[in-house]
Order: sequence, then C-alpha cells, then structure tokens
Amino acid sequence: MFITFEGIDCCGKTTQAGLLVEGLREAGYPVIFTHEPGGTEIGEKIRHLLLNRENSQMVWLTELFLYLASRAQHTAELIHPAIQQGKILVCDRYTDSTLAYQGYGRGLNQKLIHQLNQVATGGLTPQLTFLIDIPPQVGIQRKASKDRLESEGSTFHRKVRKGYLESAGKDPQRFCIINGSRGIQEIHREIMTTTLGRLKARDSLISAKQSRLS
Ligand code: TMP
Repeated sequence: MFITFEGIDCCGKTTQAGLLVEGLREAGYPVIFTHEPGGTEIGEKIRHLLLNRENSQMVWLTELFLYLASRAQHTAELIHPAIQQGKILVCDRYTDSTLAYQGYGRGLNQKLIHQLNQVATGGLTPQLTFLIDIPPQVGIQRKASKDRLESEGSTFHRKVRKGYLESAGKDPQRFCIINGSRGIQEIHREIMTTTLGRLKARDSLISAKQSRLS
C-alpha cells in the first residue's frame, strides 16, 4: 500500500503523515516513512540545491528536472523495493506536487509533466493520497522562516492549491481531501479511520483471493 500526503506549503501534512505512521505502527503494520524531494542520499543533495534560497537564479525547467531526478532515485532505491516487500509506504509529497507546483504554479506544460512523472516513477501511482487543504493565507501565516519555494507569494500558492483540487476532482478514488484548518487530533482521527478502512478492504480482498486459490 502506497500512501502519499500532499498540500500547499505549511498545510500540516508532514505532522499528519508522521502521526499516521505512528498510529499504523502501533496497530502492528510495517511502515516506511519517507519524503520528497529527498528520501535517499542523492535525493537529499538534490533537495538542498532545490530549497537553498541562494539559488534564486534557478530556471523553472532546471527546477522541474531536479524534482524528477530526486523522484527517479527515490522510486528505484526505496519506494519500489518497499512495496515489493509488502510494506506500507507513507510518502510526504510525490508526483502530484510536481503537477501542482511546476504545472499549475509555474505554468509549465502539464501533459509533459505527467509524461515525465511516468518516466521517473515507471508508472508507480499511490493507492491513497491525502490532500490537506488550507487557504494559502493560513499557510503563509504559519511559518516565519521560509525556503526558496515557500518564499513565493500568495498568487503562486493559490494556483498550486487550484492544481491540487483539480487533480483530486479528476481522481476521487485515490484522493481524500482533508480540511486542514481544524485541530491536529481531529484531522488525525479522520486520516486514521480512512486508512484503516482501506487496509481492511485490501486485507479481505487478499484473503478472498487466497481462499479461492486453495
Ligand atoms: P516540503 O516543504 O514539503 O518538504 O517540500 C519542499 C518544497 O518543494 C515545497 O515548497 C514544495 C516543493 N515541491 C515542488 O515544487 N515540486 C515537487 O515535485 C515537490 C516534491 C516539492
């Protein structure tokens, strides 16, 4: 089971992803928690290049290719093997971030981004994506010191949010939109209930298949 967390900067998704990982581990599930950009040694070097405010001269295509390079490494080195081993993998950001930020935010070609995402991941798609949705002004107010992307203005973050909501509208089976303006524990309970529901449905499907085979 591959679960991702998405949302605009400072929406609270990292906190929620961490709480879900803790909850699932307590329930006895083997879980790997990772993030993008980064998640591998090479990926973390790319992350530093991407988020360093000194790199203000970075052009948008360079930015796009760096996110994809980090993802290609991450998918091959960590995500794909973990899923093959039957683990639950929780990832803080994945392909939907690139479509929202570089596609909707920067205005780069969305079809091209979709194709490049397919190449970088070998077509690996999450089964469940939590979109933590907050208005951009709430996110901006939440953080004092900002990295290169977080320093973008509210117009940029409005476009990113629109991108996320459109992606979620196109794939309601995978996306679960969470109102991120509520309290941490209330949000966590909703995410935990949804995930456990999906895991139970998956487990009963697997055991039904196994009993048909035996
Ligand atoms: P983080 O703050 O969630 O760790 O993410 C780092 C920043 O990178 C955040 O501003 C979103 C941005 N980002 C993109 O622009 N495109 C991507 O594909 C990813 C994964 C992140």
